[in-house]
Amino acid sequence: MRIGIPAEIRPGETRVAATPETIKKYVAAGHEVVVQSGAGIASSITDDAYQAAGAVLTDAAGALSADLVLKVRAPDASERALMRKDSVLVGMLNPYDADNNAAMAAAGFSAFALEAAPRITRAQSMDVLSSQANIAGYKAVMLAANTYQRFMPMLMTAAGTVKAARVLIMGVGVAGLQAIATAKRLGAVIEASDVRPPVKEQVESLGAKFIDVPYETDEERQIAQGVGGYARPMPAAWMQRQAALVHERAKLADIIITTALIPGRKAPVLISEETVKAMKPGSVIVDMAVEQGGNCPLSEPGKTVTRHGVHIIGEPNLACLVAADASALYARNVLDFLKLIITKDGALAINREDEIVAATLVCAGGEVLRK
Ligand code: NAI
Repeated sequence: MRIGIPAEIRPGETRVAATPETIKKYVAAGHEVVVQSGAGIASSITDDAYQAAGAVLTDAAGALSADLVLKVRAPDASERALMRKDSVLVGMLNPYDADNNAAMAAAGFSAFALEAAPRITRAQSMDVLSSQANIAGYKAVMLAANTYQRFMPMLMTAAGTVKAARVLIMGVGVAGLQAIATAKRLGAVIEASDVRPPVKEQVESLGAKFIDVPYETDEERQIAQGVGGYARPMPAAWMQRQAALVHERAKLADIIITTALIPGRKAPVLISEETVKAMKPGSVIVDMAVEQGGNCPLSEPGKTVTRHGVHIIGEPNLACLVAADASALYARNVLDFLKLIITKDGALAINREDEIVAATLVCAGGEVLRK
């Protein structure tokens, strides 16, 4: 089979869907791999490195017209026009975007959106949300530390003692856990909040303090369990109690990192303008949910703004700022996913009975399969 690796064209997208490491494996399995010249450069992978791994260099049309196209982001109209009706696309295709699903279906090819894989043990090695959120959580702390005009660790010097930074993490999924671990390594004092009950123990095991917002009704407790590891929107009464507590903790915080997401919905507002106003001047907020509407209404996608003396970072593509490792991990996720849809003798076999295949297949044969 011919596998194509196009260069990503979306502004700010620095990742690539295959690395020399994964390409060697595709070639060893008997596939022909064509890579668009320059596809890896933003991830520090040269054309020479791809060729040494066994790939043949090509242009956009060559990569997009392969039997199997491996991408990072969904193709735009110009890319779709270069793809074949009988081909298969694998990428982070944003399965919640119904217009994009319809456009891909109309183009005729079959498309797999890896973000839609269920969170089951068998799918862990292909979990792109986890691999990229882990990187984003790390980078969020790095950006915050860079913007913050004080030390992160406590220091005792001849010129006096410097206090450790206080970091508040809102939303402790994969990104939030990595943010806690990273801020901890830098010496910060950390507090964290989440809706889901199992998070408390994880937060405490990383040496951070959990902000407990007690559940007052069975309904609240029930909703907080989430579905498949994901949060559901909490009742307004719980959100109000959380906001009141967070407001008090935010006054003491130097850095707030918000990661709270509810799949397929607008992100919940957790840091209101009133809370920003109450924060110390020079504090930093990194709103990792900025692309889903933001956990702070003052954040702006792609910008760092200063509001009421607080620097608010709205970088939407944090994983793209650690491009080489983000590509390396993503490429391995793709390699593992392909084992589900390619047989040992190298042929495509799309078994829709497989739970992971069924969940990720967005369109096939001109039809949108995702409701
Ligand atoms: P996410 O990116 O969808 O959301 C981030 C966090 O925000 C979640 O922890 C969520 O509970 C939280 N959140 C939502 N609304 C909130 C609110 N109002 N206030 C505070 N926090 C709020 O979540 P992510 O990172 O994708 O992980 C979800 C879960 O899935 C985690 O527990 C993770 O460990 C688990 N997981 C399980 C895997 C498996 O294969 N078993 C693989 C990967 C993750």
